[in-house]
Amino acid sequence: MALLIMIVGEDPEPWRSVLSRLDPSLDIRVWPQVGDVEDIEFALVWNHPRGELRKYPNLRCIASMGAGVDHIIWDPELPEGVPVTRVVHESLTRSMTEYVIHAVLDHSRDMEKYRRDQARKIWDPKFPRPRKDVGVGVMGLGELGAATAIGLVELGYRVLGWSRTPKEIMGVETFWGMEQFSHFLSQTDILVCLLPLTPQTEGILNLETFRRLRPGAFLINVARGRHLIEEDLIVALDQGILSGARLDVFEVEPLPADHPFWDHPKIQITPHVSSLTEPEAVAPQILENYGRVLRGLEPVNQVDLQRGY
Ligand code: NAP
Ligand code: GLV
Repeated sequence: MALLIMIVGEDPEPWRSVLSRLDPSLDIRVWPQVGDVEDIEFALVWNHPRGELRKYPNLRCIASMGAGVDHIIWDPELPEGVPVTRVVHESLTRSMTEYVIHAVLDHSRDMEKYRRDQARKIWDPKFPRPRKDVGVGVMGLGELGAATAIGLVELGYRVLGWSRTPKEIMGVETFWGMEQFSHFLSQTDILVCLLPLTPQTEGILNLETFRRLRPGAFLINVARGRHLIEEDLIVALDQGILSGARLDVFEVEPLPADHPFWDHPKIQITPHVSSLTEPEAVAPQILENYGRVLRGLEPVNQVDLQRGY
């Protein structure tokens, strides 16, 4: 009976340390030092090697270290019938809301212009557009998208939200499904992507989408790199269809040193930090699920494997 930490590309030690402090009796294995594969009943994972999860015959739950589960679900050799859970925690929601609000304010208060002006010693004040006239369109109205939309409403922006199924959120003009996608986009000046990565949403940030936005719109992608067709972004920026982009996620991470995004004057880059999972905050819910699974109960925050999120 053991809990496996299989975190690739990040340091697993903070997880091991906090989990063992919270429950010193736990048998914790840190991949690749797994020991007997038959012992593993619960796996906490991030970017695991494809096919690896098949090696544990007694696995009863796969827990994502983050809110997204595409890194698990897109594994073609995922073992069948094992529940997959994700993190839902106010620390992630707060962090994402803050990040997006910061990016929206930075753009709508013309801060990019003032940074450029400063470099050339130019004093050129401008009135910002009234917030009620700036349409901020949030794609995805789940845990993170809904809270972000509410935060933007509180700041006085005109907020539009788009989801798969109908939603009602006070102060947000909501749209759903592909039939209403164009209508949503046509009123959007700042597009925020907070969708899960699924076959339906992969590549959704493309030239056709950008052309349907208000002219010179700004893009904020904080969801997954594969939502964006990267060449289309360059074309849209170079042709003035978009005025700029703030990107936190990329098709390949870390972003390769020779990637054209690094030097593009209209692209701002952050290294996948819009909402980091804090082991200290989230470990109790991982332990709660481990306990539930051992008692034969369904884990909480389970994802719908058919739907893909
Ligand atoms: P969530 O609670 O599962 O919400 C997903 C939302 O997307 C739902 O409103 C859903 O609509 C909508 N959606 C899904 N498929 C759609 C489609 N085909 N068309 C229109 N809307 C669709 O997810 P979350 O917790 O808010 O997280 C969203 C994503 O953010 C995660 O999957 C992850 O990839 C990303 N993320 C990034 C970071 C970072 O640091 N960059 C951190 C955390 C999360 P319905 O409600 O109608 O089903
Ligand atoms: C981060 O990208 C997450 O999915 O939590």
